[in-house]
Amino acid sequence: MRRYVLVTGGAGFIGSHICKALHLSGFTPVALDNLSTGHADAVRWGLLVETNVGDLEKVARALETYRPVAVVHCAASAYVGESVSNPQQYYENNVLQGLALLSACLQTRTLNVVFSSSCATYGACEQPLIDETTPQTPINPYGRTKLILELALEDYAMAYGLRYVALRYFNAAGADPDSELFERHDPETHLIPRALMAASGQIDALDIFGTDYATPDGTCVRDYVHVSDLADAHVAAVRHLEGGGGALRLNLGTGMGHSVFDVLRTIETLTGRSVPFSVGPQRAGDPAALVADPRQAQRMLRFSPERSDLRTIVSTAAPGFGLRMRP
Ligand code: UFG
Repeated sequence: MRRYVLVTGGAGFIGSHICKALHLSGFTPVALDNLSTGHADAVRWGLLVETNVGDLEKVARALETYRPVAVVHCAASAYVGESVSNPQQYYENNVLQGLALLSACLQTRTLNVVFSSSCATYGACEQPLIDETTPQTPINPYGRTKLILELALEDYAMAYGLRYVALRYFNAAGADPDSELFERHDPETHLIPRALMAASGQIDALDIFGTDYATPDGTCVRDYVHVSDLADAHVAAVRHLEGGGGALRLNLGTGMGHSVFDVLRTIETLTGRSVPFSVGPQRAGDPAALVADPRQAQRMLRFSPERSDLRTIVSTAAPGFGLRMRP
C-alpha cells in the first residue's frame, strides 16, 4: 500500500528536494502547489495537485483522497527583504493560508504536520550558537509570520491532538547532487546563486550588503545547510511522527558560520572564475550572524548534514548556473 505524504510548496526549491528524498525512502509525495513560484517540471517523484494552500475545500479533498501519513508544509513567501517592504503578502500567504491548511488538516483528521520554519524566528542573536532555547524575537515580518505558525501548531497540539515537528532551517543552499534539480528563483536574491550568476557573467556584479557588521570580516555570517540534508531531515521527521513521536522544534544547520567573503572565495577557488562585486549598504532585516547549534536535531532525528560543507554546496549549485568545477 502506498504511503502518501502531502508536500505544500512541493514544486519549489526545497519542496522538490523533499519530494525526491521521500520517494527514495519509499513514500509517494503529493506536491500541493499553486505554481506561483514553483515549477511543474520539478514535480518528478510523485503527484501534483495545483491549488492554493489556503483553499480549504480543495486541500481537504486532497487530504481525503490520499489520506497522507503526514503533511509537510513548505509553501510560503520567503524573502526577508520583501517581507519588510510588503508585509501584507507575508501575513496573508504565511499566516492566513497556513492556518487554513491547518483547518483542513483538523477537518480531515490529518494530524501529523512537519512545518518549514526558519532561523529568522530568532531575530538578531548575540550568542555565537543558537539553540532551541534561544528566545524567538524575530526582527522582520518573514520571521514573525513563521513564528506565528509555530505558536499555532503548539496550541493546536495541546487542544486538538495535532502532532508536529517544526524545522527551523538556517540558510538552505546547494542543489541535488545528481543534478536532477536546481535552484530556480525569480527574482533570485539569495547569496550563493547571485554570486554564481556574477561568476558566470549572468549579472555584472554581486552587491554585497554591508561590510560594516560586527563580524570578523565585516560581512554577514550565515550557517549554510545543503538542501538535500534538509530534505532528509523531513523524511526523518515524517518517520518520527508516523512512529508516534511527540512535538519537536529543531534547528537544521551545521554549527559552522561562513561570511559573504568566505562564500566568494570558495566559488573562486572551485570554479576558477572571479566573482565581481560592489559593496553597498546593509539590507533591512538582516541580522549580523545566524549560526545553529544543531545537536538537538542530531539527537532526535539523527540529522547529519554531511553534504553541507561549503565546497559541496557550491559544487552542486554551480552546474545550475552553467559553471563547471576546476579539475
Ligand atoms: N547577501 C549579499 N548580497 C546578495 C544576497 C545576499 O550580500 O545579493 C548577503 C545577505 O546580506 C546575507 C547573506 O548574504 O547576509 C545571505 O543572504 P540570503 O539572501 O542568501 O539569505 P538570508 O540569510 O537573507 O535568508 C535566507 C532565506 C530565508 C531564511 C533566512 C534565514 O532566504 O528564508 O535565510 O537567515 F529565513
